[in-house]
Formats: sequence, C-alpha cells, structure tokens
Amino acid sequence: MIELKNDRFLRTLLKQPVDRTPVWMMRQAGRYLPEYRQLRQQAGDFMSLCMNPELACEVTLQPLRRFPLDAAILFSDILTIPDAMGLGLYFEAGEGPRFRKPLVDGKDIAALPELNPEQDLGYVMDAVRLIRRELNGSVPLIGFSGSPWTLATYMMEGGSSKDYRRTKTLLYNQPQVMHELLDKLAVAVTAYLNAQILAGAQAVQIFDSWGGALSHTAYREFSLAPMQRIIDGLIKEHEGRKVPVILFTKGGGQWLEAMAASGATALGLDWTTDIGLARTRVGDQVALQGNMDPAVLYASPERIREEVAAVLASYGAGSGHVFNLGHGVTPEVKPEHAGAFFDAVHELSPAYHQ
Ligand code: CP3
Repeated sequence: MIELKNDRFLRTLLKQPVDRTPVWMMRQAGRYLPEYRQLRQQAGDFMSLCMNPELACEVTLQPLRRFPLDAAILFSDILTIPDAMGLGLYFEAGEGPRFRKPLVDGKDIAALPELNPEQDLGYVMDAVRLIRRELNGSVPLIGFSGSPWTLATYMMEGGSSKDYRRTKTLLYNQPQVMHELLDKLAVAVTAYLNAQILAGAQAVQIFDSWGGALSHTAYREFSLAPMQRIIDGLIKEHEGRKVPVILFTKGGGQWLEAMAASGATALGLDWTTDIGLARTRVGDQVALQGNMDPAVLYASPERIREEVAAVLASYGAGSGHVFNLGHGVTPEVKPEHAGAFFDAVHELSPAYHQ
C-alpha cells in the first residue's frame, strides 16, 4: 500500500475512527480564488486549463496551498465525456457550457461513438497521474464524473436548462430511446472512472446535479438505475486500498434509502436535507458528505462558524461524516470566508471523535 500522510477522508468514507471530521469543498479550485482567475486568463479559457495537464495540476493544487484541506479533487469538468463523443463543448463568457452539436433524436443517439478514455480523454488521465505525483502522498485525490442523467440533459439541451424540456420530452415520449442514451453513458462513465482509478484517483464522486429535477418514479428508473450499473462496474480496490464511491444527487434527499442500497460508499447531501435525520435513515450502510448551504459563505466568519457547528451537531458523534458544502462554492465568495469555514471544521470537530 502506498503511504498516505493524511488518510482521514478515506478512513471516514469507510467509517473507520478518525481524530476530526475531514473537509473539502466542491469547486474548491475555481473562480473565487484570484490565483485561479489569473491562471485562466493566461491560459485563455476554461477548457485550455482542463486540457493542459500541467495547468490542470496547478489549479488542483491552488486551494491546497491556501487551506488545510483533507482531499484534492481533479480539476476538470463533467462535460469532457460528451465533448470526447463529438458534441463540441465550448464556453461562452457568462453563459456557461454549450455544445455545437447537441443530440436531437434517436439517430444522433444511435450514432454516438464508444468512448476509449485513455485515448479520447488522455489529457484527463495525464492530469491525474501528474497530480498524484505532485501531491506526493499528502492527501488523497478524488476523481469524478457526471451521472448519465445529468450528462444527458446537457447533451440534449445543448447547455444548461431550467426545465429540461427536450430531455423530458424524449423521456416521456420515447423512454426506450432515453434508455439507449443512458446505457451508452453508463458504459462510458464506468470506463472513464475506471481509467481515472487506474491513473491514480483514490476515491470517485458521481455528480448527479440534476437528478432532483426528476419525478419520484422517474428518478429511480432514469437516474439511479444507470448510476447503479456504474457502481457495479467500478474497480473496487486499487493500490491495496478500497476505492470509495460518493453518490451526489442534488435534491435527492427523499431517495436516500434507495441510493444507500446502490452499493455506493457514501452519499453527498445538499443543504435541504437534515444530515442527522439522514444518518438515522441510512444507518451503517453508507457514510455521508455535506451539507452546509454554500450561501452561508457570504455571511460573516462568526456566522459561518455557527453554521458549521450546527451541521457537526446534527450529524453527531462518531466517524462517517465528510464535511463539505451542499453544492459548489460560488465565484463571489471571499477566500477568507472559505478559510473561516475550514478553520471552524478543524477547531469544532475533534469533540465529536473522542
Ligand atoms: O470541484 C472542483 O473543484 C473540481 C472541478 C469541477 C469543475 N466542474 C470545474 C469548473 C467539477 C467537479 C465540475 C463538475 C461540474 N461541471 C458539474 C457537477 C457539479 C455541480 O456543480 O453540480 C456540472 C453541472 C458541470 C457543468 C459546468 N461546468 C457548468 C454548469 C459550468 C459553468 C458553471 C458556472 O459556475 O459558470 C462549468 C464550468 C466550470 N467547471 C467552471 C469550473 C471551475 C467555471 C469555469 C470558469 O472558469 O469560467
């Protein structure tokens, strides 16, 4: 087993005892950091950062130089898979992601190529290998992918969407065609995450950012089932360690029992769920990650500390809680406020691990 100086994050996911609650932050490398904005400007745009392994590595490490984080997360994006399948990803300033060739109908879906991650997304695997080398065992590296459902919404809408009109029309009119798309994406995501694990990712997170937009029954059939197939196909152990899988459905609070039965190691929670109640509901089956409202970081350091205290108290004593926000940090947050958040977790959490 390769030595890891700080294994709190991995131990917590496996519910093994730790000295304090580990913490990292979704989008911890991003626009709230001036050093990120500077590097992105130098690189020209966001995708140039992702596609250059040296720059992706540098951006991954930026928040770790500033803050006492317990994990690094690969700097990349969930939309690299559709880009590699030929949809032509680009970013319009201020408008978020766009595809030049969104999927229109069943013919486009049938024509989607199979993904060979080492070949088609070699820049991601090169970044993973480089980041592992640079981290040099300081903290574990998290790899990630979007969920098939979340990727499908971007591929069909051509970008971000408020109502997922095209995607849901297909889902309800031609469910079998939607399943064909989700099956293809599940195969691609499984191969992509396994390639990240072989390249050195020590845990993986599946971002199901828009699963919460589905109806109660549609969630199980069109979001959870494809994620379950991915989990079934993932490499379970690498470098002599278990490789934990974190399942994060934003807005998924009502489905935690079903998610916990998927074989995931941990569930990510957004801030609308009571983490203490969630713990009672899932029992010993999974660890939990989350779930402070990202908007708390706009408030004063004193208020941030109180909200951290409330989340810690809600989860209660014992291992199995990875502290995080309930969704990504926003660009307007002051870095000092993120610092106050991490400090509060460091100072207040040891009391829950005695
Ligand atoms: O967490 C991290 O620090 C790792 C990096 C990461 C990024 N995107 C970098 C990024 C991760 C894990 C993602 C995942 C991602 N990408 C998701 C799932 C997570 C979530 O937020 O629900 C989604 C839905 C996407 C798609 C995507 N990429 C959108 C909607 C946008 C624009 C969003 C915005 O805030 O403007 C992106 C671009 C993106 N991905 C940025 C970053 C740092 C901002 C790009 C920039 O520098 O302008």
